Amino acid sequence: MRLQKYMALCGVASRRKSEEMILEGRVKVNNKVITKLGTVVDPNKDIVLVDGKKIKLESKKIYIMLNKPIGYYSTLKDEKGRKVVTDLIEGVRERIYPVGRLDADTTGLLLLTNDGELAYKLMHPSKQIPKRYIAIVEGVPNKQELEKLRRGIVLEGKKTAPAKVKIVKKFDDEAILDIEIHEGRNRQVKKMCEFVNHPVKKLKRISIGELELGGLLLGNWRYLNPEEINYLKSI
Ligand code: URA
Repeated sequence: MRLQKYMALCGVASRRKSEEMILEGRVKVNNKVITKLGTVVDPNKDIVLVDGKKIKLESKKIYIMLNKPIGYYSTLKDEKGRKVVTDLIEGVRERIYPVGRLDADTTGLLLLTNDGELAYKLMHPSKQIPKRYIAIVEGVPNKQELEKLRRGIVLEGKKTAPAKVKIVKKFDDEAILDIEIHEGRNRQVKKMCEFVNHPVKKLKRISIGELELGGLLLGNWRYLNPEEINYLKSI
């Protein structure tokens, strides 16, 4: 099995991230640093160390939905010692990690798992899984601005894919928008809204594909049920 696939199955990180870790010289096979991506390992014989720690296949797969509060970072460890999302998951011994990310000041639905294969699949750009957000923005976008958001705007030289955008509620100086995007570009919703001069004041993710946050309270988490897990695997 290829080293990066084995690392993903062990729950280290997605395949892509594992490849980066290999290139960074953080992975040893039988005590030798490996930086070649095609390297094949035998999980029954070879000893693989990542950052000096032996990895092994995760037996029990864990799938968790978290309602992320503001102030938590979607990483496993933060170099500056800031709070990370896994700090909120108590009582789970498996090494889980977030599937994709939400900005520190974004709340809402975040998945965590130790299923590297599934995480890799869900994050792959080809999947185009719809993600829905509720955004409170400054001012009230007019028809043209809403149309721009729907049709796509050019961010860093590349047009965003068509989005679904609805106004949920208008106030004098702000509006609540329901926005569904199919990509996961960095700070995408905020950049889209900034582009039409309606900066985001608050952002919450309410669904990923058919998975919905529902009534899960802020800062709380729960295991996905078998139906939800099967759905994710079927995507
Ligand atoms: N878009 C953003 O701008 N931020 C997020 O956290 C998620 C989507």
